[in-house]
Amino acid sequence: MIKVIELFAGVGCQREALKRANIEHEAVAISENDKYASRAYELLHGSTNNLGDIREIERLPKADLWTYSFPCTDISLAGKRKGFDKGSGTHSSLLWEVQRLLEVAKKNDELPKYLLMENVKNIVSKKFMPLFQVWLDYLDSLGYKNFYKILNAKDYGIPQNRERCFMISIRDKDAHYEFPKPTPLTKKLAELLENDVDEKYFLSKKLITCFTDMKDRHGLIRGLRFRPKYMNETDYAFAITTHAGYRPTDNYIIVPQATKEGYALAEVGDGVYTNRCPSKRGVVQKSMIPTIKTSVTDIGVVVDDKDELISIRRLTPRECWRLMGWCDEEIDKVINEFSNTQLYKMAGNGIVVELLTCLFEF
Ligand SMILES: C[S@@+](CC[C@H](N)C(=O)[O-])C[C@H]1O[C@@H](n2cnc3c(N)ncnc32)[C@H](O)[C@@H]1O
Repeated sequence: MIKVIELFAGVGCQREALKRANIEHEAVAISENDKYASRAYELLHGSTNNLGDIREIERLPKADLWTYSFPCTDISLAGKRKGFDKGSGTHSSLLWEVQRLLEVAKKNDELPKYLLMENVKNIVSKKFMPLFQVWLDYLDSLGYKNFYKILNAKDYGIPQNRERCFMISIRDKDAHYEFPKPTPLTKKLAELLENDVDEKYFLSKKLITCFTDMKDRHGLIRGLRFRPKYMNETDYAFAITTHAGYRPTDNYIIVPQATKEGYALAEVGDGVYTNRCPSKRGVVQKSMIPTIKTSVTDIGVVVDDKDELISIRRLTPRECWRLMGWCDEEIDKVINEFSNTQLYKMAGNGIVVELLTCLFEF
């Protein structure tokens, strides 16, 4: 039986993965200061010793494993990248609270054998690597051997293009850890979607027209000819086409993007970015969803639509949780307890449970 502490616990994806990996464990404490996440944690895992704000914890109980997926807001490319310098007061600098608690544990001869970190890929970028190296050196000085790698959820069974940096630290200089090998993705995004989704999730024609605007191209895009199946540029301009050479029933939405071709084709079951497309690459993700963030207003899924042949809609909260690896039985425990805003935030903050399970199984 291992004793576990989840710092920055969120909804406890760590704990869920331990359960799935059949690792006997006891959660001796967690630290989570958001009231919604704490409540969701309780609904999912039962009542737990939540020590609250990490800054106020003096000493942690003895444990074998600490997990710390500390806030990524100031490291992520999506944010202002203020960084995680010690004493900077940024959310991401809460990492150094883990250092403070490790120092206390060291003094009491209670350093955990294992540590698990998760954060955005950008933590190992040119900008942040020097500081991350300081962290690695610090752990090394405590006797840990660190193994870190960027892993993508789509390589571990879930149709979400989500790259994250994972690090396992083992307090044994001869330790060895090998990250699980990627596996081909067999589950498609469409398999995780709900049926009969409320109108409110569908993007308006105006919005779709706006981000798919390929004005003045009249079905001819860089030499590739399209036979527009449904296109009336005067009152309804978004380009749903039939791509010549494909089956005549295949309908596509043309989405501009920053590549040589200048566009990508999205069909039913694909995930798409829905803002600032012309400045992005990879705006269409085949049978998978782009990274789920704490709000889902920048991504959508292409679906059949009885009126318009095909359309684009936002993900529902349940779909987001499924795409973070949660099963319906667990989702049912929280889905009616929180606003959509909170449900999206908790999902986007999490770790894909399937991927974590693979890490623990190794
Ligand atoms: C990236 S999320 C981690 C989510 C988690 N891995 C999960 O399984 O859901 C970071 C978490 O740290 C929490 N957090 C932020 N500031 C905190 C603090 N001062 N003390 C404790 N938790 C904090 C946030 O509320 C958020 O849930």
